[in-house]
Amino acid sequence: MELVMTGDGSPTLFLPDKNEYYHSHFGAVTESKHIFIQAGLHHFTKINPKREISILEVGMGTGLNVFLAFLFSNAMPSYVIQYTAIEPEPVDPVFIQQLNYPLLLGAERHGNVFKGIHTGESNVRLDLSEKFSLNKKFEKIQTTDLKEKFDMVFFDAFAPAVQPELWEKGIFDKIFQFLNSGGILVTYCAKGEVKRILRSSGFGVENLPGPPGKREMTRASKPV
Ligand SMILES: C[S@@+](CC[C@H](N)C(=O)[O-])C[C@H]1O[C@@H](n2cnc3c(N)ncnc32)[C@H](O)[C@@H]1O
Repeated sequence: MELVMTGDGSPTLFLPDKNEYYHSHFGAVTESKHIFIQAGLHHFTKINPKREISILEVGMGTGLNVFLAFLFSNAMPSYVIQYTAIEPEPVDPVFIQQLNYPLLLGAERHGNVFKGIHTGESNVRLDLSEKFSLNKKFEKIQTTDLKEKFDMVFFDAFAPAVQPELWEKGIFDKIFQFLNSGGILVTYCAKGEVKRILRSSGFGVENLPGPPGKREMTRASKPV
């Protein structure tokens, strides 16, 4: 694993053996904000009156999406977020220490929260603030035992070319089953085959403009 700089000045991780990045090399923070926070969380709050939002992330990796969702809850105190993150291969703390996301996001005062994201045991819910809790599951999405339903899914697995087994119908059927009606899934992936599978699992699918360097992204919704 290597730490590499992306186009917007934020770091990400790179796996040489898979030739795969954890984020877009055009900009890690820009991509995460665009897909998961703007097209995901902000959109959800516009179409749904819920103030308690449960999020499932597939592929927690660096914890950047968790931290951005925490910052959202901090800025919008009328919301309570319960976040569940699936990650079978937690990132080595040596790399986490080098990820300066709190500084880059102007949130140095929440540096301890970023550290807190990466501490604690699997399957134990941790309150990172009064409004934000995190349950990390060091498991695979294929075999993890989901008990509660979610309002949103941040689907941030490695690309279909690298991990095709995570983009199969069985995975999206499972997610559909554990999504509340009106719930949404957002992902950077805009491949036609993935959208076809999402539709066959029951989702309504939208193509949206992607972040810099990517023409499109996908938002999928479970009908009300
Ligand atoms: C694109 S990276 C995630 C980026 C991450 N969201 C971030 O902000 O850093 C994909 C992640 O999926 C994880 N992963 C690999 N196999 C998985 C599986 N079977 N289920 C869930 N996550 C998996 C990887 O370990 C990696 O952390």
